[in-house]
Amino acid sequence: MNLPEGLAFNNQETPFITRIGNILKDGTVMQNQKASLYWHSDGDITEAPGHFIYIMLNAKIVPPVGGRTGFLDMRSLSKELSPEILEWFQDAKIEIKIANIDDFMGCKEAEIMPNVRHNVNQIHPVREIPQLYLCAHQGFVTFKDGKTMSTPDVMEKIYDEKFTYIHQYEEGDLVIWDDIQMHHRSWGGFGNHQRLLFRGQSQAGDVEKLIKYVRENLGKSPIEYESKNKSLEKKEVHEAKAEGADCDITSEVKSGPLEIN
Ligand SMILES: [Fe+2]
Repeated sequence: MNLPEGLAFNNQETPFITRIGNILKDGTVMQNQKASLYWHSDGDITEAPGHFIYIMLNAKIVPPVGGRTGFLDMRSLSKELSPEILEWFQDAKIEIKIANIDDFMGCKEAEIMPNVRHNVNQIHPVREIPQLYLCAHQGFVTFKDGKTMSTPDVMEKIYDEKFTYIHQYEEGDLVIWDDIQMHHRSWGGFGNHQRLLFRGQSQAGDVEKLIKYVRENLGKSPIEYESKNKSLEKKEVHEAKAEGADCDITSEVKSGPLEIN
């Protein structure tokens, strides 16, 4: 499994599972946490094809109010856009300003990756179906005539709530989505109530491995994980090297602030 650099945050539970919400590993509740209240894709900070990822969120502590996650089906939305709008997007590029993303605020300068550009018109790598990719709030779109527009302004022009699904979690829920086709956002509204989910991410093609990993490790404390998975990690590294994979699953996770979703 090769987690894109920058998608691991310092609230990491295990090398591949990140704590999402407002509870730090020491139990502290981050006050007034309001990150990710905008449509985005987590993979957008990575150059193509590394942005093609799948995400799994497992709800551990559900707040009594709020705390939902919204999903926007960009493929269905793209299919219903007018020819004029689709023409408007032809050859358009979106540039992600990573330093402006809330989740990276507080990172050391050296930890922040350079800006990333993506084609707005994408072909889904698995389904081979065209769709728009307007993945980041903190970016701008450059059109073929050289004009630019901020991503929120572009999204406002095409957004249609009929392609939106908002998930109300129950404890134990496991939500899996294709981060290329679906944009997502926190729906907020949980104040300082505790909210905790575990997140796993996988680049396209690694989903079965991620599901197996999550089943085996989700909910274990870091100490339990350390003691029970040391031998497993060594075995996986050995297997990965034997297969000629370029990933190093034991590499230290990149530090950074908490993401909320
Ligand atoms: Fe996210």
